[in-house]
Amino acid sequence: MEILSSLNPQQRAAVEQTEGALLVLAGAGSGKTRVITLRIAYLIAEKGVPPYNILAVTFTNKAAGEMRERVKALLQGQNLQSAPLISTFHSLCVRILRQDIEHLPEGYTKSFTIYDTSDSQKVIKACIKDLGLDEKQLSARVVQSAISSSKNQGEDFEMYASKVEYTDERRAAIARAFKMYEERLNNANALDFDDLLIKTVRLLRVSPEVREKYNNKFKYILVDEYQDTNPLQLALITLLTEKQQNICVVGD
Ligand SMILES: Nc1ncnc2c1ncn2[C@@H]1O[C@H](COP(=O)(O)OP(=O)(O)OP(=O)(O)O)[C@@H](O)[C@H]1O
Ligand SMILES: [Mg+2]
Repeated sequence: MEILSSLNPQQRAAVEQTEGALLVLAGAGSGKTRVITLRIAYLIAEKGVPPYNILAVTFTNKAAGEMRERVKALLQGQNLQSAPLISTFHSLCVRILRQDIEHLPEGYTKSFTIYDTSDSQKVIKACIKDLGLDEKQLSARVVQSAISSSKNQGEDFEMYASKVEYTDERRAAIARAFKMYEERLNNANALDFDDLLIKTVRLLRVSPEVREKYNNKFKYILVDEYQDTNPLQLALITLLTEKQQNICVVGD
């Protein structure tokens, strides 16, 4: 393949080793993203993998956009019926949830709304007020950051509440606001930013059918900047690669 000639031997080996699990560790600026990009092109052009079977995950929209452009340029002239999915973790989650969130027991529908930080802060403010909590003692920002960090550790409000000690009034108050906030989001068919990853991981855990569907769809998975994945993102990738294990991760 023409494009492979632009790679050094290590990069080339990483591109050609398409089956199974591959971890590429190399320093900053050493050509890791280039390996991912060429690997996608190689899978499609040389291995005949249908593009819709390929998922590449990056961390920012900018990185995803650039990778899409690079892959498009490499595949120029090929008559392709589909495109690989090159996406951030967040947009991957939105895509999965838009199709399958109804498999979650909480009763969300596909037309769910996504609340940004300021939307969710408004809801938290209202919860603090309606619970009769003192806004000067407990600001919406403090509650929001407690909720967010708890969610990012994979905790729901019950787990959060279970950690409240008898004497910790402040944490008890946050737990009540957390609970009300979750109820209000659920009633409004809304998810906040942190929920996107959490609900997707949960969806893939609770529904073998949905898990199977995405395992079959994404037969080749590539992750850039692997060193930056958090435990929830790692859980998502693990759930998505349960069956095939054709996974390539690069990081430094
Ligand atoms: N084999 C190569 N020959 C020539 N140029 C290369 C080669 N591999 C990578 N480059 C160039 O080096 C630069 C860095 O490559 P790339 O972005 O793939 O590295 P990276 O390891 O992903 O970097 P970062 O650590 O910043 O994510 C790019 O401009 C790329 O085009
Ligand atoms: Mg890179």
